[in-house]
Amino acid sequence: MKLKDKVFIITGATSGMGRAIALKFAQEGAKLILSGRNEESGMFLLNEIKGLGTEAFFLPGDVAEESYNQDLVKTALEKYGRIDGLSVNAGTLGLGAITDLPSASWQRTFAVNVDAAFYLLKAALPELKKSLTGNVLINASIAAFKNFPNHPAYCASKAALVALSKQAAVDYAPEVRVNCICPGPVDTPFIHASAVAFPDPAKAVEDAGKNTPLKRLGLPDDVAKLALFLASEDASWITGAVYTIDGGAMVKS
Ligand SMILES: NC(=O)c1ccc[n+]([C@@H]2O[C@H](COP(=O)([O-])OP(=O)(O)OC[C@H]3O[C@@H](n4cnc5c(N)ncnc54)[C@H](O)[C@@H]3O)[C@@H](O)[C@H]2O)c1
Repeated sequence: MKLKDKVFIITGATSGMGRAIALKFAQEGAKLILSGRNEESGMFLLNEIKGLGTEAFFLPGDVAEESYNQDLVKTALEKYGRIDGLSVNAGTLGLGAITDLPSASWQRTFAVNVDAAFYLLKAALPELKKSLTGNVLINASIAAFKNFPNHPAYCASKAALVALSKQAAVDYAPEVRVNCICPGPVDTPFIHASAVAFPDPAKAVEDAGKNTPLKRLGLPDDVAKLALFLASEDASWITGAVYTIDGGAMVKS
């Protein structure tokens, strides 16, 4: 088992990539603090994970609140006495061109995508340093590097996450490794929400996969496999890296 008894906090764990990462890490023996908003999905996931023979705890809340991130850290320490890693997946979209986007929508996108990552890092990094093999995985997006119509807040927030990952990687080495995962189009509820910004949303989702060199949408498990590699000792000399995982979308003109 690659993560036996390692304690990870996973945000966005009730759906999509966060959920796939939670299941993958649990199969590898990790103990998990699961964060999400949907209690029913959280309890369902908890039962699945318990069936895999490891321990987990679900704490529902809004990652945009600093106190909730502090509670995630406190809960991990109370339940398991240590924290070895974070997988930051919770994300949201404020859709609209710059001139149309309500400022509140811009602010909410940054609160959920960027402020939340900062709050969790701030609360957890002292504990991750104590672990000596602390590990942080930030889920950004290829939107950090290329434009998507009506996604200015999302693209800017994901670029900020890439920069935050690199900064944390340098400032908290060598005790903590920090890497950034930048997925392309992955088949989760999120991509359908994002496609609303296109004239024909169903076609936009279909094209997003079809137009990649590998000609399909990613699966949450594709990303979970990369997350497991980066979280494990197999990646012990990798920090500050930014991985695109996108079926080749970034390199296609
Ligand atoms: N699906 C894609 O094509 C794609 C591509 C690149 C990056 N991403 C990023 O991957 C991450 C995971 O998204 P996904 O595709 O798995 O989507 P998803 O909709 O399946 O999951 C998003 C998760 O974030 C949680 N969340 C959202 N806002 C929250 C809040 N305020 N407080 C607590 N939890 C909150 C949701 O409850 C859910 O568990 C996001 O950060 C997203 O930006 C997605």
